[in-house]
Amino acid sequence: MLLYISCLRKFDSFDVIKINLLNRNKILEFIPCYSKIFNIKIFNIIDSTNNYLLNKFDKSEYNNNLIVVAASEIQFNGRGRENRKWYGGTLGNTLTFSILWRFEKGVSSLSGLSLVIGIVLVRVLRSFSDSNIYLKWPNDILHDNSKLAGILVELRGKIHGPSFAVIGIGINFHLPFSIKSHIQQKVTDLFQCTGKVHDRNEILGALLVQLYIVLSDFEKYGFSYFKNEWMSYHAYQGKNVTLLFPHNKSVVGVVDDVNDDGSICLITPNGKQSYNTGNISMRLKNN
Ligand code: BTN
Repeated sequence: MLLYISCLRKFDSFDVIKINLLNRNKILEFIPCYSKIFNIKIFNIIDSTNNYLLNKFDKSEYNNNLIVVAASEIQFNGRGRENRKWYGGTLGNTLTFSILWRFEKGVSSLSGLSLVIGIVLVRVLRSFSDSNIYLKWPNDILHDNSKLAGILVELRGKIHGPSFAVIGIGINFHLPFSIKSHIQQKVTDLFQCTGKVHDRNEILGALLVQLYIVLSDFEKYGFSYFKNEWMSYHAYQGKNVTLLFPHNKSVVGVVDDVNDDGSICLITPNGKQSYNTGNISMRLKNN
């Protein structure tokens, strides 16, 4: 179904945006070879697709080993990393979805998972735009240093397995100025990056295929298998950065490496130090 909505983007101008509403059959048409492996649920409005897969999804629907995906046009309580809110706006502003992936392994061996999801996004978003899309450790997706997409991975299960991950992805698609101006960091959207309104069904299909490929390889080989590719996408490789920790603590250093467990290695005034993902944010240091 096609919808045309007019949207007040600045105070003085209207854009008419063409929106392809999310549609399960259309998504599957874009990925015919993979159409039998996903159980896709589309919502018009939901609190959070991560909440749905974590708490409300009826686990008896696990039949046939299908991979469950929940996507929603609108989220009214979208969550980001570090307990932040994820602003999704209204119809067609974002592409927001979550996928539930079950592991034989336990949560203790899933370090690096959130970084490999970043690889999925860079691969797919570069294929729809230019190659100016990069990662910021651990898993922000940047275009020209502005945030284009974010990832929230939530793990459940046993330390030594089995376990599962709910992987939530939010891509800024065509955010109105009123929303961009509320977000306390530089943000961009796919429309701004490419000058085109893409079909979110096609992008979601491409993301599901890459998620399937990358998660299967991650399960077999771990993060080390992806490390070089991840480093090649890191926007701040070799750059002076500040890591911000809870309670106003911080450390400065030069980004040196990412380790096999996904932790980041900095050259600091006290030598090489590694930091694990968690409630840590990385900022480019003003020189
Ligand atoms: C971040 O950058 O802080 C992560 C943002 C993750 C947002 C997505 S949107 C789909 C899924 N549902 C949520 O509530 N959050 C994630």
